[in-house]
Amino acid sequence: MSEGLAPERIVRLEEGAVVLLDQRKLPDEIVEVRCKTAAALADAITTMVVRGAPAIGVAAAYGIALAAESGEDLAAAEAVLRASRPTAVNLAWALEEMRDEPTAEHARRIHADEVARCRRMAAHTADLLAPGTRALTHCNAGGLATGGYGSAVGALLTAFERGLLEHVWVDETRPLLQGARLTAWELEAASIPHAVIADSAAASLMAAGEVDCVITGADRIAANGDSANKIGTYSLAVLAHHHGLPLYIVAPSTTVDLATPDGAAIPIEERDPAEVTARFRARNPAFDVTPAQLIAAVVTEHGVHRAPYLASLAGAVAA
Ligand code: MRU
Repeated sequence: MSEGLAPERIVRLEEGAVVLLDQRKLPDEIVEVRCKTAAALADAITTMVVRGAPAIGVAAAYGIALAAESGEDLAAAEAVLRASRPTAVNLAWALEEMRDEPTAEHARRIHADEVARCRRMAAHTADLLAPGTRALTHCNAGGLATGGYGSAVGALLTAFERGLLEHVWVDETRPLLQGARLTAWELEAASIPHAVIADSAAASLMAAGEVDCVITGADRIAANGDSANKIGTYSLAVLAHHHGLPLYIVAPSTTVDLATPDGAAIPIEERDPAEVTARFRARNPAFDVTPAQLIAAVVTEHGVHRAPYLASLAGAVAA
């Protein structure tokens, strides 16, 4: 059974550099990028050499360790990394974790803990699925996005291993195609039956009875359960609700932000419109917010959390 890519192939700290697998080039080319300063790493995060909420946090933790080892100003390193992407709260979480102990050992512990959390939430999510499940997923919430194993895709790996998963519909994920390039690649490596679909194909597949549930990750989950994830997740949530299908959000407790009361307070990244089209005027919000009432359950490493989320998520974070 495939365990996915080894965590250190996705992101690691070496002597004098944070080394990243360049996710912009996958699946066609396997190329690594070496970031020798916190500023270079921040640029790699902004340009999505590494992406996915927990993986961004892990990379930033290594960036602080690198900055400490090479004598950079740690406050400046933290500031440049913090500003690299706004929506995923795991980035701020990891930077705060590193403040008291900015060492390589601590960053590696944060990395290993994120992978361990993935395995636990995968097991909890698989408990929700019936044999023969045909799941639909959006963007990439696989090992590439978490630094190993994956959140939503980790859940699919575990469900497949338990003989519960029949097929995965993989949204292509416009405009940067994280689904078509990254999730499909991870599912192929795990020999999980899958098919890439245009994002706009989800509705008709649901109407035809070919989807049993939607499983995605998240970049930030507000205290009331409203969840920010890759643009297009909200559309899927509305569609799933209309067709009576559950939407499960699988994310570690490090993605839950109790300081953000609801989705309206989540900063939404607007990326370069040229990612959509360079020919015409365009708008490129990279995330949207799915209201809590459209989410059947949020699954963290602590278990399955259901509405009212204010109480169930607070419990998860406290644990
Ligand atoms: O812009 P990206 O590729 O960083 O967006 C990633 C997502 O939206 C993922 O679904 C989310 O980070 C969860 S990753 C486990």
